Amino acid sequence: MSKLWGGRFTKTAEQWVDEFGASIGFDQQLVEEDITGSIAHVTMLAKQHILSEEEAAQIKNGLKTLQKKAAAGELVFSAAQEDIHLNLEKLLIDEIGPVGGKLHTGRSRNDQVATDMHLYLRTQTEEIMEAIRTLQAALVKQAEGHVETLIPGYTHLQRAQPVSFAHHLLAYFWMLERDYGRLQDSLKRVNISPLGAGALAGTTFPIDRAYTAELLHFEGIYENSLDAVSDRDFIVEFLAASATLMMHLSRLCEELILWSAQEFQFIEIDDAFATGSSIMPQKKNPDMAELIRGKTGRVYGSLFSLLTTLKGLPLAYNKDMQEDKEGMFDTVKTVKGSLRIFAGMIETMTVNTDAMAKAVTSDFSNATELADYLATKGMPFREAHEVVGKLVLTAIEKGVYLLDLPIEVYKEASSLFADDIYEVLQPKTVVGRRNSAGGTGFEQVKLALGKANDLLSQSIKG
Ligand code: ARG
Repeated sequence: MSKLWGGRFTKTAEQWVDEFGASIGFDQQLVEEDITGSIAHVTMLAKQHILSEEEAAQIKNGLKTLQKKAAAGELVFSAAQEDIHLNLEKLLIDEIGPVGGKLHTGRSRNDQVATDMHLYLRTQTEEIMEAIRTLQAALVKQAEGHVETLIPGYTHLQRAQPVSFAHHLLAYFWMLERDYGRLQDSLKRVNISPLGAGALAGTTFPIDRAYTAELLHFEGIYENSLDAVSDRDFIVEFLAASATLMMHLSRLCEELILWSAQEFQFIEIDDAFATGSSIMPQKKNPDMAELIRGKTGRVYGSLFSLLTTLKGLPLAYNKDMQEDKEGMFDTVKTVKGSLRIFAGMIETMTVNTDAMAKAVTSDFSNATELADYLATKGMPFREAHEVVGKLVLTAIEKGVYLLDLPIEVYKEASSLFADDIYEVLQPKTVVGRRNSAGGTGFEQVKLALGKANDLLSQSIKG
């Protein structure tokens, strides 16, 4: 098949070479954005009298026909036309005749592809932000029912201090809030128009870049034509924000997997998000959580792949940059899928409050409380730490917990101990009293839930 750029060539590439160079297999996902960009471009060409109204109208009608056909899945693309841009231009010319060849006046595929990517990522970023909000809402809803449910808090995966389960869930709410913020911030740089930068140097035609930017609802234009066609920072930023988001999801996956294990039994994942084993009838596997944890790796891969692709590229466009797409498309799909599954998994999981209550009463995670008790009564904290450490050792030797030691043992360890320590050592007291800002104390957790709900309702309004 003849090429739209075939003029200076004396022979055509073999089909397998064409196929290697083609991006149509994946960039056809940009069909809608490419047509939208072209409609804005041709509208501007007419306004600037670069094309006649009549020509522009013909081209626009042709593009709208292609738009309908695309929506109906009726467009047939070919690797011989390399990419979505050349395929659509060829289809346009087939549709309306040689006047279709005027569409590309004052434009290059280099500013065209960049425009498509900006339009695409704007929509996708907004949709992902929405999905983050849905997951945050699911976390808040679970948390609301568990302000006073206690769970062991860990450091080094050793029981450290008990915490409110709501507080633990809300930790992820705030991580996701940062993810939301990163994506929101990246939109400032996504929402800039490269259209009109031409191949690299601008154009001799009297185009109006601000006008096409306005038609495409961009907030501004790239200041430098070389930068406009070479910049893929906005995709790097999207991938970096996605990698961080997936890292957060993956950490929660790890906790869900642990918590649903026989050894913990803190939660049960709903049947809808678990699978069985083909051999062991008793198994219920947290597959979805494992998969999301696993998929995190491919998102990191896409980020590194693009950074590596870009690092040695001289200005301006290089064909290497065609490699920016598959990782981005894959990341969009992975992130959206993971967020959706996650919201469902959190909403439907069952919390085993009995197992959690049992866990927080059968450990030494109230030891800090005892040291704080002595410090409050004037003993230097370091000394108090030593006294309590010895008490823990005594309890371990006796095979009991701190609440089981008789008062005489305490009084012998320090005259500052009084009968009220048994109340002080209750897990509910331990958690309830941690009311420093951002702590797990019940008052603080209720405040945090209020703030979280405010954020969610603000963004629904906004
Ligand atoms: N398919 C190309 C890409 O994705 C479009 C831009 C091609 N430009 C060029 N001068 N060959 O990067």
